[in-house]
Amino acid sequence: MSEPAGGRMSRALVLKRFGELPRLVERPVPDRPPGHTLIRVRAAQVGHLDLNVVEGRFGILPDLPSVPGTEAAGVVVESDVHPEGLPVRFRGGGAGLKRDGGWAEHTVVRDSAVVPVPEGIDPALACCFFSPAGTAQLAVHSVAAVRPGERVAVTGAAGAVGTLAVQLAARAGAEVVGVVGRESKLPHVPASAKAILASELAESSVDPFDAVIDTVGGPVLTAMLGQVRGGGRVALVGYTAGRDFRADLADFLLADVSLLPVNLIRRGEEVAEDAARLLTELSAGELTLPIERYPAERLAEAAERLRTGEAIGKVALYFDDRASED
Ligand SMILES: NC(=O)c1ccc[n+]([C@@H]2O[C@H](COP(=O)([O-])OP(=O)(O)OC[C@H]3O[C@@H](n4cnc5c(N)ncnc54)[C@H](OP(=O)(O)O)[C@@H]3O)[C@@H](O)[C@H]2O)c1
Repeated sequence: MSEPAGGRMSRALVLKRFGELPRLVERPVPDRPPGHTLIRVRAAQVGHLDLNVVEGRFGILPDLPSVPGTEAAGVVVESDVHPEGLPVRFRGGGAGLKRDGGWAEHTVVRDSAVVPVPEGIDPALACCFFSPAGTAQLAVHSVAAVRPGERVAVTGAAGAVGTLAVQLAARAGAEVVGVVGRESKLPHVPASAKAILASELAESSVDPFDAVIDTVGGPVLTAMLGQVRGGGRVALVGYTAGRDFRADLADFLLADVSLLPVNLIRRGEEVAEDAARLLTELSAGELTLPIERYPAERLAEAAERLRTGEAIGKVALYFDDRASED
């Protein structure tokens, strides 16, 4: 059934001022320019990148007012290239950065940013998997190049990227230690890793690691560098615990540990095929990625869970009650 777009009203989270959370408002369903697809959003990710945009603390920012949301999933309402009703996700094409994104019931996205999703995939998983799956794949295989038998630590091991990095490193044959910052997270580290508290790492009984996947940054990165054997690698994914990093260069040279950046924005294409395979495995339950789900009205709670590091896995908003239960 065709869903008429023109003249209809639709809900959107509109950002009016950087530093304040967007407000849920009614607005007309947006018009679709040529080369774009109109999507009815079923679930949208709340990611650290989105919060940085809301705060006005990212290198690419929209003119305001604007609708944030860099990744979302839903169904095609109107498009020149995709059939109506097709389940899709989107990421890129400036969505949620330079132009309106997915924190809306209806949004218009460049055709090139729209990717079909297999039928039957939970929309929250469809909108959330790519960044953690692609990043974990890149970090474990391309950047840290984890090999069988190695000892690997993953920090933020109950977080979104961390959860998947633990599982992929274990599959690669590594002995994995999942490091978390607070006790409440210990039960949420995937079973394929030994879960420990960051504070326990300081104990001399912990053997050095061959590689570290650090999703936390700040002082955690500094501490982890000291836990790696000479010639080992640290793949740096994120900086939730702080953007600053200082090193004593003499110690750094003596330690001979490679500090390697992981950059999904630049290398997303490289892992797109692997990420699609990981989506199938996630959907089948062969891999796990917890997702906290909130209705759009509860954005403030969702954002707070993510910002404070309390969230377990990913955080998603839904505009459609069916997406709360998938
Ligand atoms: N480089 C890339 O291409 C790339 C791609 C995707 C994501 N990222 C970045 O990678 C990082 C992790 O992403 P994610 O989706 O896995 O995030 P996440 O699920 O929130 O996990 C990050 C972990 O950081 C710790 N944390 C969070 N907030 C904190 C705070 N305020 N203070 C101290 N620790 C805090 C928490 O671990 P504990 O509670 O265990 O300490 C949390 O589980 C983010 O910075 C994200 O922007 C980078």
